[in-house]
Amino acid sequence: MISMKKLSILPHLAVAATLAFAGSVAQADEVQGNAAAGNAKVWLCVGCHSIPDYRADYPLVYKVPMLGGQNAAYIATALSEYKKGDRKHPTMRAIAASLSDQDMADIGEYYAAQTATSPKNPLK
Ligand code: HEC
Repeated sequence: MISMKKLSILPHLAVAATLAFAGSVAQADEVQGNAAAGNAKVWLCVGCHSIPDYRADYPLVYKVPMLGGQNAAYIATALSEYKKGDRKHPTMRAIAASLSDQDMADIGEYYAAQTATSPKNPLK
């Protein structure tokens, strides 16, 4: 039996994607990130990036970088590099492929607003 709990998030994603698209049309020149909007978009990321010292892709043992306190533009740029293929990590490429420029800017602002020493779990 497939859990309906997981599937029920899909309509929310569609709404979020539509809103993000409307936002990016309104600000075609420069995408302005918003930390509060980013808060709703990092649910995909916390499993790996919020656990200190967690190593993904066992047994290849990649160290997952800490994002809290990182520069917003650095995060947005890194995500677009994964999306374009300039950065090669397969999992991050797959994740970044689903993000718009607005998503990347929002997520960047969200993580930049956190401190590196006390990453806040947005699911709490
Ligand atoms: C399955 C685990 C996993 C998930 C889920 C994940 N990441 Fe990552 N992320 C990684 C790993 C591992 C790396 C290091 C990859 C590399 O070496 O290029 C990374 C790298 C990054 C980097 C580059 C950091 C740096 O210091 O250069 C950013 C930015 C990033 N992830 C953001 C995100 C965001 C935003 C999400 C959610 C939308 C996310 N990640 C979801 C595992 C994950």
